[in-house]
Amino acid sequence: MKIIRSPEIMHEVSKIHLFEGTTIGFVPTMGALHEGHMSLVRKAKSENGVTVVSIFVNPAQFGPSEDFDKYPRTIEADIERSQREGVDILFIPDAKSIYSDTFATYVNVAGLSDKLCGAFRRGHFTGVATIICKFFNILMPARAYFGQKDFQQGMIISRLIKDLNINVKLTVCPTVREKDGLAISSRNSYLNAQQRRAATVLYRTLLSISQAIKAGDSNLIVAKKEMNNMLKAEPLISEIQYAGIYSPDTLDEIFELEKENLLATSVRIGDIRLIDNMIVTL
Ligand code: PAJ
Repeated sequence: MKIIRSPEIMHEVSKIHLFEGTTIGFVPTMGALHEGHMSLVRKAKSENGVTVVSIFVNPAQFGPSEDFDKYPRTIEADIERSQREGVDILFIPDAKSIYSDTFATYVNVAGLSDKLCGAFRRGHFTGVATIICKFFNILMPARAYFGQKDFQQGMIISRLIKDLNINVKLTVCPTVREKDGLAISSRNSYLNAQQRRAATVLYRTLLSISQAIKAGDSNLIVAKKEMNNMLKAEPLISEIQYAGIYSPDTLDEIFELEKENLLATSVRIGDIRLIDNMIVTL
């Protein structure tokens, strides 16, 4: 496995692979690698000649009061895990090589970026779209892999690719969960034992509402209420940012079932923000 830190060298290496006709599969991450990330790596490896994983805690996507400073950084373990999984190239740029002193250009996917999580994390998705656009230009991957865990992020990248004519095929992979259903996330390491137990309420709620809808419950006002009631019943939840049923195409709340329906929620346990979602296909 190669470790590349310079964007210029990464670009040159990518050019050589392109010239040789080897496809590059790209998995962008912020590190603290876990099974969710690894599922993307495995998918990328199965479809491409070369798999590149980036590790970059992107300052542009964190708000001033968010957890940039305390975000888990486990670089030694990440390198070991990537090597074990057969990653070909780890791209680990430092912030200065990505955001120079004169950096001034941002990519904003208007509309979609302001909904759901975007309403609570102003500027977050502009930071995400900007770094992904930069990485696409540096790496020139044939395919890029994202997780359904961050459903809105996947949609925004998909729109970015379409709107800016970027020649990358996006694949969104299923959410990998712990045995008790909690969606695996680097931020789960912030939870203490009690909070960790409480966090399973997200999955239990989504599953229960999904089952009710599949069993014939079609009143989405009632379903949304029930969803919020289940979350509220967990005393360690300090805030429900959103919990409802949305169109997976527009992220707008829906009041009548469609073929595909997105159940999504964002809550806080203490000051730890957790998100989860589920698609209900009828
Ligand atoms: P990060 O949170 O490290 O996630 C990297 C990728 O792994 C994302 O596509 C995310 O959706 C996926 N992922 C995380 N947990 C997962 C799980 N339990 N199952 C399946 N996939 C999972 O998302 C980011 O980083 C950043 O915003 C990034 C895209 C790298 C831009 O900075």
